[in-house]
Amino acid sequence: MTSAKDRQRLTRTGERIRMISGEDQAFNLQRARLGSQMNFLQLLEAKRDGITLLSEDIERWVHAVVAGEIPDYQIAAFLMAVYFRGMTEGETRALTMAMRDSGDRLDFPEDKRLLVDKHSTGGVGDKVSLPLAPLLACLGFRVPMIAGRGLGITGGTLDKLESIPGFRTVLDREQIVAQVQSLGCCICAQTDRMVPADRILYALRDVTATVPSIPLITASILSKKLAESLDSLVLNVTTGRAAFMADRSAAMELASRMVSLANACGVRTNAVVTQMDSPLGTSIGNWVEVRESEACLLGRGPEDVRSLVLEFAGVLLLQTGRARTIESGRAQAEAELDSGRPWTTWRELLRLQGADLEAYEHRLRHDTLAAVVRDVRSDSGGYVRDSDARVLGEVVRDLGGGRFRKGDQPHLEVGLDAIAAPGALVDKQGLLARVHAQDAMSAAAAVERVRQAFVFSDEPVLREPLLLKRLGPEFPR
Ligand code: URA
Repeated sequence: MTSAKDRQRLTRTGERIRMISGEDQAFNLQRARLGSQMNFLQLLEAKRDGITLLSEDIERWVHAVVAGEIPDYQIAAFLMAVYFRGMTEGETRALTMAMRDSGDRLDFPEDKRLLVDKHSTGGVGDKVSLPLAPLLACLGFRVPMIAGRGLGITGGTLDKLESIPGFRTVLDREQIVAQVQSLGCCICAQTDRMVPADRILYALRDVTATVPSIPLITASILSKKLAESLDSLVLNVTTGRAAFMADRSAAMELASRMVSLANACGVRTNAVVTQMDSPLGTSIGNWVEVRESEACLLGRGPEDVRSLVLEFAGVLLLQTGRARTIESGRAQAEAELDSGRPWTTWRELLRLQGADLEAYEHRLRHDTLAAVVRDVRSDSGGYVRDSDARVLGEVVRDLGGGRFRKGDQPHLEVGLDAIAAPGALVDKQGLLARVHAQDAMSAAAAVERVRQAFVFSDEPVLREPLLLKRLGPEFPR
């Protein structure tokens, strides 16, 4: 009989283990007898004991999850076993593919324009998708950008877009394909029939402390991106105190695992790891971030937002053979952004997805949509050494701009803007940020917390680089 130690050694080498012990023999015999009616308790036991699962078992498990054949407690226990035992590359790939195939995939007609997208693990103030989708369309790509909603302190692209009057985030499969073919891009929610396995598994992970598992995150993100039938993908993995992968080495590992699996699945993919200790840009909140995206498309707005938009476009140009170096990719993207065409495409995207452009213009002309706006002024002054994105993200969530749990409806008008960036020199009583709130009481509470999110230095401060690492086939070490 094989010892537990031997089993783990075999597991680490990725070798498929069949009948290595009396128990496993029983497992296989029983499975053979039951045929497709697998006993999932034994699969759960196998994962608990660190045995590498066969691809076909993982496929059957995902199929049964979606068919409602496994009770939630067994699914949750399996997820916890994965959390502790991990998954080999082969297991993660099988899980990803089975999740991708659990529902509809987007199916696009033959076209010389490649299908591309960007995915970010999320951050505070991250509005990059809004200017990026139209920019990529203008660079000659097709962009079926399936976006998500915010949870906790990280905002969601769909919530931001819903602060635009009339904008529809729900499109069906035919509408997505038609708009991508005609305009070159759409930004919308996943349809009900895409990747149902992820919806079920994510909801359980969220309430069973099993979200931060690298194989589960990899399968969750990539199954959704693979269902878009992409040719090329750029991943943004954020790290720092406001990122969901706070630890830098874990973020690097996640990026590397996702890059290797996506490429193995036939989608050319590179990743960019970026810092998320301070917010991206100078605004956090749904409507205020739309304003900042609009500014970016008009060649204005914060430099860090613009730089990341150009970075992701540059990486995609490089990995699709349209640029020879990342520098020339970024330069091409910059020339296109500054031509004004992406702004026109953005407005057309809004129109096609139901936005009332007159009402939108009207909103843009107003300083705020919120009932109350309060300045946050510095007590001391000096160079901003730190602006804590976690604290600022929590303030916006607590103002009503985010969700504590799925299903909460965020207030789209609240948030922070004019946030002083690290490195900025602020006088005593100088402006650190503005709070947009629903009422005076929540504004007053936010003002105090925002002030405490800043740390000053008497000496000039150099901002930590935003871009920490690029990795993938285009960026060999
Ligand atoms: N985002 C996802 O889509 N899935 C995860 O598991 C984590 C972040």
